[in-house]
Amino acid sequence: MKKILFVTSEVHPLIKTGGLADVSYSLPKALAALGQEVKLILPNYRALKLTRNVQLRSVLKIGSYTVQLLETTLPDSNMTVWLVDCPEYFGMAGNPYVNQNGVAHANNAERFALFCRAAIEVAMNRAQLDWKADIVHCNDWQTGLVPALLSLEYQCPMTVFTIHNMAYQGLFSGLTAAKLQLPSQFLTPEGLEFHGMVSFIKGGIAYADKVTTVSPSYAQDIQTAELGYGLEGLLVYRNEDLKGIINGVDDDWNPENDPLIVQNYNQYSLHLKTQNKTALQERLNLPVDEKVLMLGLISRLVEQKGIDMILDCMSELMALPIQIVLLGSGDKSFEQRLIQFAATYPQKMALTLGYNEELAHLIEAGADIFLMPSRFEPCGLNQMYSQCYGTLPIVRNTGGLADTVVDTLPETIENQTATGFVFNEANAGALLETIKRAMLLYNFPESWRQVQVNGMNRDFSWRHSAAQYLDLYSCIE
Ligand code: ADP
Ligand code: GLC
Repeated sequence: MKKILFVTSEVHPLIKTGGLADVSYSLPKALAALGQEVKLILPNYRALKLTRNVQLRSVLKIGSYTVQLLETTLPDSNMTVWLVDCPEYFGMAGNPYVNQNGVAHANNAERFALFCRAAIEVAMNRAQLDWKADIVHCNDWQTGLVPALLSLEYQCPMTVFTIHNMAYQGLFSGLTAAKLQLPSQFLTPEGLEFHGMVSFIKGGIAYADKVTTVSPSYAQDIQTAELGYGLEGLLVYRNEDLKGIINGVDDDWNPENDPLIVQNYNQYSLHLKTQNKTALQERLNLPVDEKVLMLGLISRLVEQKGIDMILDCMSELMALPIQIVLLGSGDKSFEQRLIQFAATYPQKMALTLGYNEELAHLIEAGADIFLMPSRFEPCGLNQMYSQCYGTLPIVRNTGGLADTVVDTLPETIENQTATGFVFNEANAGALLETIKRAMLLYNFPESWRQVQVNGMNRDFSWRHSAAQYLDLYSCIE
């Protein structure tokens, strides 16, 4: 049994901006189910949705700040969550990273440096918790200083750093770096320095005992200039210690007992799925029609996700006999263009801007097709959720999407492995062609049903992935 401190900047259902929150919720639970002792540590943001009791456990002095360490548990489990409470840094409005106008909090470097230093105090058993970590598992740039700073400690725990997205690196100016009072040995190109800036993600990649990312294909992708963002050399250098482990799907995403959908179903009662489609049409004021092909999308509206490809073929799409249901928030320019289309085609397109967990589940259950034309995708969760819900994903051939969706071709229909549609080129034409390819299959209900069942039969449970992390923890000397 290992004591694992899971360091993360978001966890569902307390606070979520994307898939990191889902992973931070599911992976610790799956590790605990494999007999490990796991504790989560997270900043105490103002926006946290706390439902369980919160207790003060200790008070720490980090630089000139007095930080309280609070303890709660995740809803529906007894997983301990330690909250790093420092209102000057985590008490502002907005999400963990940006303010209400979508602009990065000006003191993000200081905020997450303080979080990292608090996590180190906990990991090293200096926080009056009578608990010392064997493994510190860090996630994304916000936690990148942990492996770096821990490497200076005597008898430090082993560290794992998981990259959920190389596109976000935590890069800050030299001036900001000075405020962080980092030991001078880190301020070199071998350390955290990156073209005169300080890079938090480098702290994780360069100093962790093991580095992982969230799919085998993305582990390869980030070792190339195209997706390594200048750190491909370092990643190639760490190649021996770099592993891609695919994310899983939490039990919360199961159409058989999902309380957030209108009608539960499984692969033997797939005809019931339509009730979710009609409920969605009623709710979103679309014409109620069981037969019409419904495309769904749930996404951060950012370039990574290929939203521009969808926008670029939207006029052509609107000429087809389909409906499209979109849920997301993000770049204002994408939001504006989507608002215009939704206003022009109210009979065909329903747009919901913002974050809505319940609607996300209903879209997964109600849609026939899920769109995920990402330019790059470290893992991606919705294409897996979609397969569990009998909703065929249309994805680009990249990263975790390539690793989890099997294209529908004559041979994959024949051998019953097809689970969705995959295309290569990152442009609107290729996406449109693939949507038309899916429409063709929709005319053959039996084949369609078989592809749905193939996806629903896939085992995306977290158990496999957690076991791979456990193997990794045990091979750290
Ligand atoms: P990423 O982390 O890059 O955003 P993932 O596919 O890994 O992409 O995870 C996205 C997660 O966030 C999924 O659980 C998805 O359902 C959820 N999500 C994204 N946008 C919204 C939204 N507007 N409302 C509800 N859930 C959302
Ligand atoms: C990131 C990636 C996404 C991945 C998620 C969880 O946000 O963009 O592909 O699924 O992290 O690992």
